[in-house]
Amino acid sequence: MNKAKFITFEGVDGAGKSTHLAWFADALRKRGKEVLVTREPGGTPLGECLRDILLNQPMHAETEALLMFAARLEHIEQVIKPALQRGVWVVSDRFSDASFAYQGGGRGVKVEKLEQLECWVHENFQPDLTLLFDVPVEVARQRLSKNTTLDRFEQEKDSFFEKVRQAYLDRCKKNPDRFALINAAKTPEEVKEDLEKEILSL
Ligand code: TYD
Repeated sequence: MNKAKFITFEGVDGAGKSTHLAWFADALRKRGKEVLVTREPGGTPLGECLRDILLNQPMHAETEALLMFAARLEHIEQVIKPALQRGVWVVSDRFSDASFAYQGGGRGVKVEKLEQLECWVHENFQPDLTLLFDVPVEVARQRLSKNTTLDRFEQEKDSFFEKVRQAYLDRCKKNPDRFALINAAKTPEEVKEDLEKEILSL
């Protein structure tokens, strides 16, 4: 556990990743790491403005992809890389895998186009570890139904989330060294035990 690491949390809305992210960051801090928690879209003043637009304004699927990656470039250059260089661990609630899952799988933007954007925005830079919180879509939807306000993505149909979930699982299969698949249908305590194992593996 010497070099500062970049860790991302992914999964369909309602998988429970945000709850576990706070616990995970604290567990790293207890091990003496300085940790920066951030999120996408967002993480910078410009990124947060773009988040507001992305979560609320209807737009073309490719515009959505371009704005996600524009916010990401700012996030990487202004926040993520400088923190890692200072020796600070970075834990981000979503990163590029979300674009492949939501804009690619969910909205049908061509993977080749997303790969071009990925190459433009962060060639040779990837998370050290990506935790994919996977749950059946009906479980995720049930958890989300407790929220009173739903954003533009959360209002999508189950079939959209099925495609998002599948695209995440495909991405996980293609990058087995970087991904850890977390069964988020388990109890919070069991999920924590799995996360503890991932921390040890770092
Ligand atoms: P999320 O952090 O899950 O929102 P919440 O505050 O409700 O927990 O993410 C916001 C939404 O943005 C989520 O529905 C997924 C979407 N998103 C994309 O579609 N593409 C992306 O590249 C990213 C980073 C997020």
